[in-house]
Amino acid sequence: MPKASCAVRGTFFDFVDDPWHHAGNEQAAARFLADGLLVVKDGVIADFGPFADVSPRHPGLDITHLPDRIILPGFIDGHIHFPQVRVLGAYGNQLLDWLQTWIFGEELKYRDRDYARKAAGLFFDALLAGGTTTCLAFTTSSPVSTEEFFEEATRREMRVIAGLTGIDRFAPADFCITPDDFYKESKRLIEKYHRRGRNLYAITPRFAVGCTGEMMDSCRRLKEEHADCWVNTHISENPSEVRTAKDHFPDCSDYTEVHEKHGLLGPKFTAGHGIWLSNGEMRRFSKAGAAIAFCPLSNLFLGSGLFRLGRAKDPEYPVRVAVGSDVGGGNAFSLVRVLEEAYKVGMCNNTMLDGSIDPRNQDLGEADRNKLSPYRAFYLATLGGAQALYLDDMLGNFEPGKEADFVALDWKAGQLAMAWHQTLAVEEGGPETIEQAAQLLFGIMAAGDDRNVDETWVAGARAYKKGHDKA
Ligand code: GUN
Ligand code: ZN
Repeated sequence: MPKASCAVRGTFFDFVDDPWHHAGNEQAAARFLADGLLVVKDGVIADFGPFADVSPRHPGLDITHLPDRIILPGFIDGHIHFPQVRVLGAYGNQLLDWLQTWIFGEELKYRDRDYARKAAGLFFDALLAGGTTTCLAFTTSSPVSTEEFFEEATRREMRVIAGLTGIDRFAPADFCITPDDFYKESKRLIEKYHRRGRNLYAITPRFAVGCTGEMMDSCRRLKEEHADCWVNTHISENPSEVRTAKDHFPDCSDYTEVHEKHGLLGPKFTAGHGIWLSNGEMRRFSKAGAAIAFCPLSNLFLGSGLFRLGRAKDPEYPVRVAVGSDVGGGNAFSLVRVLEEAYKVGMCNNTMLDGSIDPRNQDLGEADRNKLSPYRAFYLATLGGAQALYLDDMLGNFEPGKEADFVALDWKAGQLAMAWHQTLAVEEGGPETIEQAAQLLFGIMAAGDDRNVDETWVAGARAYKKGHDKA
């Protein structure tokens, strides 16, 4: 399929560095162009900069102007479940009960190709309506679900990472897959999809509670034979889960060691949640170059706990962090809403760290790192997510040579009084300074949602326009 070319004029905001490296001067990590031009050739950014500089280099270009919007790189969802579209926001249980009550039965339906195909259409529509252009996704233990996921992503030319999801205990027998079948089917799917178009493959042991040592051995073998593949899993999400995982792997001193022992913890390894990781485990994540997906909507919805972002961002042992919706534990696709909840989690954690409860627990450094400024928040959803997932050579900001996925945000949309609220940041017209743009972005994350996503572009072509959606 020929790739799209385009030129888009508007107000741009992206990141060139991690804002946590610039405490007190976070603007230094960001880039703002009040009037910029993005030139895309065959789906890839060919040129980017101030309109006045870039446009003379490309005479005769057909330019699409997106006024009154802030254009960001497409959002990256670092942890989401494709087969949970329909069961998102289910009532009343914590993780282990919730999986048994609501999830495995629904995911079993994805053995049916028609069901999986219909769900895939709705899944990608929902992602794009939230401004998400890339995700790291779980499928089910049925290869049909993995195939339908990649087929739909291919039709939409989206950059995705996913894999057959291994589980051989803790689920109904007809939902489990044997370690041997998991190994064979994963290999077949890797050959069929990995690095085909924009598809990337993740070897995916669901979680230690659902995986025997033999299943983990299959994952180790797959990773040894396909070192270029990603690894996706869950870790330390819920206290009962952590206890059960320890019972299942008595040779391992903690949850992280389960992955270390099976040769998985390292670059391109991402685990969702990590709420109950010890400081020592976080340091081992840091040294290994492994990533955590912070999923606050889900962590709160399932009552799992408060992820310690400020600890993960320890400057001595920084852990790579992406944000994830974790649909359907998370009750929305919108990464704007995920950022809002991440902000609140940081504020709650800081009540524990500011010394007001117990002065011995005061840690003002960690408390500061918990605070989710708009710079930190939108970095996590774009370049930070790309770095966590080892995709930053391909996407995450507007550097020429990267793939042209982006989202145009309307800062006035959403709640009834949103436009008036945003005049606190900019009285009239659009943002002229980076600080004004950051304030509008904070307004979006604090009071907005996917209604603020006006357009989403994938590989240089408009893939979603608000008001014209099908779903
Ligand atoms: N752990 C194992 N499976 C799941 C899942 O589907 N969702 C969440 N949130 N945690 C899990
Ligand atoms: Zn999950």
